[in-house]
Amino acid sequence: MGGPVARSTGSVPFDADRDVPGLIVKFGDYPLHHGGVGAIRSLGRLGIPMYAMTEDRYTPAAASRYLRRAFVWPTTGTEEPERLVEGLLRIGHLIGRPAVLIPTDEEAAVLIAEHQEALADRGRFLFPRVDAKLPRRLASKQGLHELCVEHGIPSPAAAFPQSYDDIVRFAEKARFPLVAKNREAFVRRSRPAVNGTTRIATREGLLTLARDWGDHPGVILQEYLPREEAEDWIVHAYFDADSTPLAMFTGVKVRSWPPHAGMTANAYVVDNPELADLAARFIKQIGFSGVIDLDLRFDRRDGQYKLLDFNPRMGAQFRLFENESGWTSSAPCTST
Ligand SMILES: Nc1ncnc2c1ncn2[C@@H]1O[C@H](COP(=O)(O)OP(=O)(O)O)[C@@H](O)[C@H]1O
Ligand SMILES: [Mg+2]
Repeated sequence: MGGPVARSTGSVPFDADRDVPGLIVKFGDYPLHHGGVGAIRSLGRLGIPMYAMTEDRYTPAAASRYLRRAFVWPTTGTEEPERLVEGLLRIGHLIGRPAVLIPTDEEAAVLIAEHQEALADRGRFLFPRVDAKLPRRLASKQGLHELCVEHGIPSPAAAFPQSYDDIVRFAEKARFPLVAKNREAFVRRSRPAVNGTTRIATREGLLTLARDWGDHPGVILQEYLPREEAEDWIVHAYFDADSTPLAMFTGVKVRSWPPHAGMTANAYVVDNPELADLAARFIKQIGFSGVIDLDLRFDRRDGQYKLLDFNPRMGAQFRLFENESGWTSSAPCTST
């Protein structure tokens, strides 16, 4: 990743509160996660006592010199929510004072949103309050598409087939190539239909793949926005209790892994006020508070930014963005 130091839209002075610890919350088995390590280093360097859930004692996060303590707790992301809440409460007890929760995946962000009372009251954890149902809707590709339609935000045309027959009917009229994604962030771990964003070139290709998707295919079939006519943009920001951005950064993703469909491998900071306005307007409309990481694809054919992905939590590549005063989008989590 590279690029100049970003300018954030606001110039809010901040002072890290070094008495309040941060806890990286992750569910699922992905030990080589650079985003979590980035947050531990960024916040740890500010003097904030950092803690993390880790798969074992030897992950990069667990080994960071900036980590005060790793809580070894291997999870799959498919556990009963009550068990996960209990585990978090136990960790909170061991930390011994109120800590800010920093989720690094959808499972964690949704769990926190849906158990705010237990985590705030019994766990004394700190986190931005949000409509309990909103993060689950945002993390769902179908939920996000419906919110975009409701609020007039451009997004690629999409179909949500409920059966194999639906797919056969859809395939007769569909334009190829198209893109298949897992509809819900959550089936991704338990029974994923596709490994990730998958480009499908032909009708036959779609029908062959769909035979493995079972009676109730958990996929979204999306219009393909051609690479030759598109740019991938990212937005990282923090929104306060009134859904006003305190920090907002925009950038362009130029490489990903797997190629053309995956995580950011190379990106640049590019100031884009039009995109920042679009993101701020949408988030105000839906009333979200907290850290966000958005993926949008600019379609040169109609000049629109199409919202693809809304991660209601810190993005793994957040270290790309830092302003003159050392703000990153994760910093407000622990600032006063
Ligand atoms: N409809 C599409 N047309 C073309 N490329 C797409 C489309 N949807 C996603 N992509 C590419 O795949 C990447 C990952 O897609 P995204 O919707 O963000 O899924 P994920 O939840 O896996 O991050 C995007 O950043 C973009 O590069
Ligand atoms: Mg994405």
